[in-house]
Amino acid sequence: MSSKPPRKILVTSALPYANGSIHLGHLVEYIQTDIWVRFQKMRGNQCIYCCADDTHGTPIMLRAEKEGITPEQLIDRVWHEHKRDFDGFHVDFDNFYSTNSKETQHYADTIYTRLKEAGLIEIRSIEQYYDPVKEMFLPDRFIKGECPKCHAKDQYGDNCEACGAAYQPTDLIEPYSAVSGAKPVRKSSDHHFFRLSDPRCADFLKAWIADPKHVQTEAANKLGEWLQAGLSDWDISRDAPYFGFEIPNAPGKYYYVWLDAPIGYMGSFQNYCDKNGLDFDEYWKPDSEAELYHFIGKDILYFHALFWPAELAHAGFRTPTGVFCHGFLTVNGTKMSKSRGTFITAESYLNHLNPEWLRYYYAAKLNGSMEDIDLNLEDFAARVNSDLVGKYVNIASRCAGFITKRFNGKLSESLPTIDPKPYLKQQFDDELAEKQTKGRGGWVMHARAHTEWPGHDTNELFGWFRNQGEDIAAAFEQRNFSNALRLIMELADIANRYIAEKKPWEMAKQEGREAELHEVCSTALNMFRDLTVYLKPVLPMLAEQVEAFLNIPPLAWTDVWAPLPAGHAINEYQHLMTRIDPKKIETMVEENKQSLAPVPEAAPVKHAEHQQNEAKADAAASPWEPFISIDDFTKVDLRIVRIANAEHVEGADKLLKLTLDLGGETRTVFAGIKAAYAPETLIGRLTVMVANLAPRKMKFGLSEGMVLAASDERGGPFLLSPDSGAQPGMRIK
Ligand code: MSP
Ligand code: ZN
Repeated sequence: MSSKPPRKILVTSALPYANGSIHLGHLVEYIQTDIWVRFQKMRGNQCIYCCADDTHGTPIMLRAEKEGITPEQLIDRVWHEHKRDFDGFHVDFDNFYSTNSKETQHYADTIYTRLKEAGLIEIRSIEQYYDPVKEMFLPDRFIKGECPKCHAKDQYGDNCEACGAAYQPTDLIEPYSAVSGAKPVRKSSDHHFFRLSDPRCADFLKAWIADPKHVQTEAANKLGEWLQAGLSDWDISRDAPYFGFEIPNAPGKYYYVWLDAPIGYMGSFQNYCDKNGLDFDEYWKPDSEAELYHFIGKDILYFHALFWPAELAHAGFRTPTGVFCHGFLTVNGTKMSKSRGTFITAESYLNHLNPEWLRYYYAAKLNGSMEDIDLNLEDFAARVNSDLVGKYVNIASRCAGFITKRFNGKLSESLPTIDPKPYLKQQFDDELAEKQTKGRGGWVMHARAHTEWPGHDTNELFGWFRNQGEDIAAAFEQRNFSNALRLIMELADIANRYIAEKKPWEMAKQEGREAELHEVCSTALNMFRDLTVYLKPVLPMLAEQVEAFLNIPPLAWTDVWAPLPAGHAINEYQHLMTRIDPKKIETMVEENKQSLAPVPEAAPVKHAEHQQNEAKADAAASPWEPFISIDDFTKVDLRIVRIANAEHVEGADKLLKLTLDLGGETRTVFAGIKAAYAPETLIGRLTVMVANLAPRKMKFGLSEGMVLAASDERGGPFLLSPDSGAQPGMRIK
């Protein structure tokens, strides 16, 4: 193992869109990748982790316009927000860059030009919907109308959420632009296509997918179906106005955001090379010996395992060594939901909870497959408390004090030889016997360890810990983190059984057992050190605290080969990790519900698979709500009210309790306006309420309606005031 030269590995996570906040769903990917990268680094490999914000496209252009800023200002602000969130979760990119960079543009042009030279770019005229008011072509998600199949109103241009039908935007009945509301006209324009239907592409991809190293079996099956159905040419250009890179020698034509997004991996890496004196080509030339891995969610498999390798292969670059695809996050068994408070942003999580708790829980759930993973909030608290606090931290907290108080902070000069068998779980005995006879792991490997592994002068128990390390490493390597943690927690169980049997707290009270006490606590702390090595990819900050406590340099994987030095001086134990208080989780969930006006759920993005490619980038909703009929509007009973009383709510960070007078009748409403208004300034003023909103039970009482206020990134909330003359109870229509 130690003789192999270190691997050179380039790793990426998908580039988050620059028009939204990082949420716990995203973090399934970034935490997963970060754990894998940290593991590789601890193993002595050269591993470089690159990412960037995905900054181009129509949704970002329109969002900036709505906020009254330039797209550059928007993406700059979001970059800093994303960076803050990733730092908060200890996602340690070697480079976090932007696709709106000269490096990405350079490689986009290089790839486009080479594909063109290879005869794989074709220009054809296509007819599309055009918004005559906004003077722009409309992406499918920005056209709405009546479903041609079931006649449901207000459906998106690519598929119907009522009946599930997939169609072309031109099939919609009475289409309208979701940007301006105007009736779109059909207009033709020239588009650039990547000719995926060329047999060169299909032949290459069939062979590429067949290699099990490249994609997981589940992914290969899915990709096989898509290939079987036949690949269509891919439309890679968009017309001005568009925020992106203009195509060389094609004025007014821009690369579609999904063309330059994966090229952003190259852009970020080039930028890293320039800063660190590395050779880009060594990693990206066709016969490169470096490994390249992309971590992605299952929704973007099509782009990463079909378009991307086909582009690279025909533009003279290497193709990925592997595309690692994961499933989607659910919270308490269902899709993240704003109304249930389970659409949790990274920022709000960090306001309440320790990021390493989530890192641990995700790791405990991830097994390298494409299955969805569930964050069950009750199980989350139980699991972290029992594993991390109850089993792992417990080892140090029960033994460290004796070393400090009784032995001047120094470990014993020698360690006892311990047979680990009595401390192994009884039920593992059979498995163990099998391991022995098969000669893998267990005792046989252990015996080999004596002769081959350097720095070996320990007893049997530590041999066991060391041997398990290779199984743990294999599980990390395969991204089966759940298996790795299971093995690590089995070791923690061994340590705890050992301590429970030796009872150092009793030894401490008995005379003449000093030496024994010293050895037992030193043994326990050595086991704790080994566990920390194995947990370090998952819990990097906790590991740093342990390094400070044990007074040792940063832990590397091979540290388990030798125990802590004889007589080594440690520092005084400081509390390492607290238990999760389930109340804090409740508060976080409540806070995510506590927005003044309930935010509509993001439209679910369901797509016929063959359309997924186009739809994904346009999925970010239009800045405006869809049109509603006057009948829909009159269902909302808006009334003038007088604020009869306003007061603070104990324990609520954002809410004020308002008593509203509707001209005789009164209602209680909890409003999230505490940050903007002192309660006494509100008493007596008139405002507007939704009087027929179904009452909602909140943590602090029943809320019987909602007051209206304006807000966005520029400020707020600002309450509404009627003109003078309006009286409580008057209807607003
Ligand atoms: N910008 C594209 C990726 C371009 S890569 C060249 C994009 N961005 S995203 O912000 O929507 O998603 C970023 C990553 O987070 C994707 O891999 C996506 O699958 C993942 N996730 C986003 N929401 C998720 C969950 N709810 N659960 C798990 N992963 C999720 O796609
Ligand atoms: Zn329909």
